Amino acid sequence: MNNTVKEYMEAHDLQTRDATDVIEEFSDELAKMTGKCIDIGCGPASVTRKLLMPRMPPNVHIVGGDISKKMVEFAKQTHSDEERLSFIELDVEVEKIPKDLICAFDNVVSFYCLHWCQDTRKAFENIYQILRPGGRGLVLFLAYNDGFDSYLRIAEVPQYKSYMTDVEKYVPYFQHCDNPRAKMKKMLEEVGFKVLHCSLREKTFVYKSLEILKKHVVAVNPFINRMPEDIGEKFEKDLLREIVSGKISFANKNNGSKEEEKVLDRYYVLIAHFEKPDIGK
Ligand SMILES: C[S@@+](CC[C@H](N)C(=O)[O-])C[C@H]1O[C@@H](n2cnc3c(N)ncnc32)[C@H](O)[C@@H]1O
Repeated sequence: MNNTVKEYMEAHDLQTRDATDVIEEFSDELAKMTGKCIDIGCGPASVTRKLLMPRMPPNVHIVGGDISKKMVEFAKQTHSDEERLSFIELDVEVEKIPKDLICAFDNVVSFYCLHWCQDTRKAFENIYQILRPGGRGLVLFLAYNDGFDSYLRIAEVPQYKSYMTDVEKYVPYFQHCDNPRAKMKKMLEEVGFKVLHCSLREKTFVYKSLEILKKHVVAVNPFINRMPEDIGEKFEKDLLREIVSGKISFANKNNGSKEEEKVLDRYYVLIAHFEKPDIGK
């Protein structure tokens, strides 16, 4: 994600709603946490502060980690008044985890980040290294959304092709996988985790207007910033049309007069809760 923090802040209702659901579901676990927790891919850290932090005991310190310098700077500035939060730049897929992060955390959480990783196994291997023995992880990320198939189709359009040569990198690892839940569970076990929970969930979200969907699409789109302005503007429209064609859209009479087109998004997320075994115990 190399788009601006502002774009993401204006269009992250879906991610916030899904994080709220999982935080609610695992609230007992969160309430029992001790020590230090890292929120990987924390973004602007609004979920970290407003949703996660109040569920954790007051003595748990939360470090927000994100690959984006812009996100980390924004989070540092916005939450400088909160002693329980601090922020670091971190690429969860990095070849070698910095020494000071190894076994440094009792808990790892990550919401709506890991589908950005090309090498999901490497990301989980790094999470294993970051956790102390006995430490636990809770992750939520996209498994499938047909919007990513729209990327693949639009990448064939001659006008956009040269800006999207690496399009495959931005399609989630589990998008075209037969049994994402089984594959994810096996991956976690092979990395060394004890899997406490692993599920694939179908979710729906209604974008209340095409404008709102467009904001969401732009906020998480890696290609637009690479294009000259005029091509980027046309790309936004073409991509939106392509995405909407794969979804259910319906007119809605707003205040009995103006008709708004709403769009129903149906997609799948993976949720996993796991533990790094404490072999000494
Ligand atoms: C969709 S946002 C989610 C932000 C926040 N967790 C939330 O729920 O609102 C995904 C975040 O993951 C970050 N990200 C993407 N790839 C990453 C990586 N390899 N390591 C760490 N963070 C990454 C992005 O910079 C972005 O801030």
